[in-house]
Amino acid sequence: AQTGLADRYREYFDIGVAVSTSDLSEFEKSSIVKKHFNSLTHEFSMKWSQLEVKPGKYEFEMVDQFVAWGHEHGKKLVGHTLVWHKANPDWLFTEDDSNLSRAKLLARLEKHISTVVGRYKGKVYGWDVVNEAFGYDGTFRKSPWLNIIGEDFIERAFEFAHAADPDAKLYYNDYGLVHKSKQDAVVRLIQRLKSKGIPIHAVGIQGHYSLTYPDAKLLDEAISRFASLGVEVMISELDVSVLPFPGPEERGEDAEINNLRAAELDPYSGALPTDIEAQLADRYQELFCVLLAHRASVNRVTFWGISDAESWRNNWPLPERMDHPLLFDRNLKPKLVVERLLHLAD
Ligand code: G3I
Repeated sequence: AQTGLADRYREYFDIGVAVSTSDLSEFEKSSIVKKHFNSLTHEFSMKWSQLEVKPGKYEFEMVDQFVAWGHEHGKKLVGHTLVWHKANPDWLFTEDDSNLSRAKLLARLEKHISTVVGRYKGKVYGWDVVNEAFGYDGTFRKSPWLNIIGEDFIERAFEFAHAADPDAKLYYNDYGLVHKSKQDAVVRLIQRLKSKGIPIHAVGIQGHYSLTYPDAKLLDEAISRFASLGVEVMISELDVSVLPFPGPEERGEDAEINNLRAAELDPYSGALPTDIEAQLADRYQELFCVLLAHRASVNRVTFWGISDAESWRNNWPLPERMDHPLLFDRNLKPKLVVERLLHLAD
């Protein structure tokens, strides 16, 4: 059978994909997941809002299925994500009477992490322990985690995760890490964790990019900088948008980013250019060449979705919604992008 992407890069790094539960149940998609990827991240079901709708009332069925399927097909699994400012259950940050104390929220956090990481001990290869904790300006993102516990919620989360599964790899995951001030903040975080002997194995650069943003050189420099700290690097959520870029997710918290994005934004007023697939393939090739150059420190590249047809970006209120194939079109045949990456010269 034709080599899959993961086989092609096996000696360099894992090739992963984000799946939603339906993917695995639809044979077509799952045959593509089986063939091209050796690492799986669940797009939604392992987030706190999906696991513990009511205090103490866990819903693990979907995740148990996901974990069982992954193991059946020899996939490494990524637990996404333990601590985030989004996708939390409504009850988490509230208290009946007085306002929620640091101690109480820390206790809830410890219980969540020990319950979830403990349940999949030895079955989940690595965890996005904390996701998106900084703003583009390098300050801590305002969130109940920061406001109620304080800046050390991150240290505590890593400690709780390590205690629950000492063999699991532990990651900090974020987007916009080519921006200097945000990158500086994550560098400081990694240095702080290491200086305290708190295990962190890798940093996840999400990689929600466009055809032009960011310049590949910036990614190259970011990988070098993180690798120099003694952690591995992953591109944890790679997708390349061919649609008007800045949706709510990417507007960023400050004008500098908005101006940047506005400057590089290249909205397609109507239909996509006819050579858009070749442009995509070129862009993916350019990014993969950077990753191959850093293969000693890159341990995984995960595509955030099998195809743009189901992409999170399609949730944005776009003038014209274009289901554009990212990797595989609606008929789920490998597109130019995959063919190009399969034959990428070393
Ligand atoms: O499955 C339910 C469906 O039953 C329901 O009818 C529908 C109506 O609300 O919601 C569906 O769930 C949606 C889920 O995606 C489906 O997979 C949620 O509303 C929606 O909020 C959720 O969005 C996810 C988003 O994170 C928020 O959790 C996206 O799929 C997922 O791609 C996106 O991924 C994030 C990463 O976790 C972190 N980095 C950024 C990335 C993109 O935003």
